[in-house]
Amino acid sequence: MWKGKFSSSVTIVVLILCAAANSIVKASFEDEVDIKRSDFPDGFLFGAATSSYQVEGANLEDGRSLCNWDVFCHIKGSIANGDSADIAEDHYHRYMEDIEILHSLGVDAYRFSISWSRVLPSMHFLSPFERFHCSCFFLSWVVVFDKHTRDHGGGKFGGVNQAGILFYNKIIDSLLSRGIEPFVTIHHFDYPQELEDRYGGWLSHLMQEDFVHFAEICFQSFGDRVKYWCTINEPNLFSEFAYERGTYPPAHCSPPFGNCSTGNSDVEPLIAVHNMLLGHAKTVKIYRERFKSEQRGVVGIVVHSFMYKPLTEDKRDKEAADRALAFNIAWILDPVVFGDYPPEMRHYHGSELPKFASEERIILRDSTDFIGINHYATLYAKDCIYSSCICNDSSCTKGSDRAIRGFVYTAAERDGVPIGEPTGMARFFVVPRGMEEIVEYAKKRYLNKPMFVTENGYSSPLNKVEDYHHDVKRINYLKSYLAFLARAIRNGADVRGYFLWTLMDDFEWVNGYSVRFGIYRVDPQTLNRTPKLSASWFRNFLSNCSLNYVESCNSISLMNTDESRAQSE
Ligand code: NOJ
Repeated sequence: MWKGKFSSSVTIVVLILCAAANSIVKASFEDEVDIKRSDFPDGFLFGAATSSYQVEGANLEDGRSLCNWDVFCHIKGSIANGDSADIAEDHYHRYMEDIEILHSLGVDAYRFSISWSRVLPSMHFLSPFERFHCSCFFLSWVVVFDKHTRDHGGGKFGGVNQAGILFYNKIIDSLLSRGIEPFVTIHHFDYPQELEDRYGGWLSHLMQEDFVHFAEICFQSFGDRVKYWCTINEPNLFSEFAYERGTYPPAHCSPPFGNCSTGNSDVEPLIAVHNMLLGHAKTVKIYRERFKSEQRGVVGIVVHSFMYKPLTEDKRDKEAADRALAFNIAWILDPVVFGDYPPEMRHYHGSELPKFASEERIILRDSTDFIGINHYATLYAKDCIYSSCICNDSSCTKGSDRAIRGFVYTAAERDGVPIGEPTGMARFFVVPRGMEEIVEYAKKRYLNKPMFVTENGYSSPLNKVEDYHHDVKRINYLKSYLAFLARAIRNGADVRGYFLWTLMDDFEWVNGYSVRFGIYRVDPQTLNRTPKLSASWFRNFLSNCSLNYVESCNSISLMNTDESRAQSE
């Protein structure tokens, strides 16, 4: 299956020649390598990714119920500029356009997620009277809605919303008829608000069963056609933001991490992840026992995977970088590969870290067919076990000196010099080599389990006009990260696919629409989609032009809203 072509066919091209061929600014290793799609292994999936809440909108339509983010977005001050995803990119109505766009890009696969509250909403649907109030006074409507939800039940307790099933069926069928593989995330940060109200969402063990139930509905409804499943997206990042920093719903935290009305930043993230891991393992068990023989799919989990490098050459900082990897990445992956938390975490957390019962360890062990890596950036790591006491350094504060952070302070600068170029997102610095390093880390620690890069992409701030069309920085980012990914594969890493984040500018959680990751621009007023230069670059690459081409090496065309609409009619 793997061509093993790299050693023979990857041509080293002198920098100057590349520069003559196109306009991208060159830097180092990644620019010297003339990599093409055909240099990746046979069967390697190239795709683009989105998530339901970030693009769908239509949050009150066709029986969908409120999710945690719907409520959170409408609490003043939660989201930059008071943005919400009530409409988002209106993908719910424009999905055919977007699928035509994906088709015109030439992707092999499309990663998207299922909205839990669209498939398993509350049983209560809004009356026209309530809808009227909702559009005027969202919050008062939330109260009305929640009351009904509590009275009538929802989530696992309500019925399956056939309109929701129909929506995803249409997406899946349209993708497959265009030769695009659906790569489905079951849970990507959004869940029915009712599950929060009833028992506190992921802080409760009850959420495990609700999640398994939701996943089963997905397997039953879509598993005849979906062969790639991700159970949960980034449990590590979600729990950090939701229960440690308090910036994602349900906004729990405690000092010194933040000022929230409730929460315990030292402990709650551990509990939430514990429940997510067990929810994952139980889901995979059911898939393997009841669905796999017929459906023949694979199921993985997706981890937020920053790379960490020691801030100094000091041994203690080197250990801190290792700890940062263990406390962020191995926190999720050790349990699903080996059946328990990393020894480093057990050592520093002691009894705060929940324990798995022996039967739980059994179902956790080897409960992932692949590892999904979301990789964007690299940070420096500085020790906070010894250093803070020794040099009286003020950096080991605000929680860096606590077990939940692994006693690690992370920084983006060394001696005033940033680790890489900044992007639209705080702490997302461009360090292409990190892609190779993170893949190598997973390869070594998890004995080269199959991996997918489930997300990688570049964000620019809203006010950067060149990002609207001439997004050269995004192209540079993508090509350099891909070059390092290619090198990791050449060195034996079993990576089976790469998903670019993201297809179109979308709702970037607490940043709202103030940062943009898309290779398509979405006009904020009309919601029309137009390709940026990076879309042409990706299209070129997917048609086997070199990574270093911006202008086409083939004759190709990309769709915009008008064309993709016409096509989809
Ligand atoms: C990872 C998350 O899965 C995705 O939802 C988010 O938009 C990107 N990171 C960028 O922050």
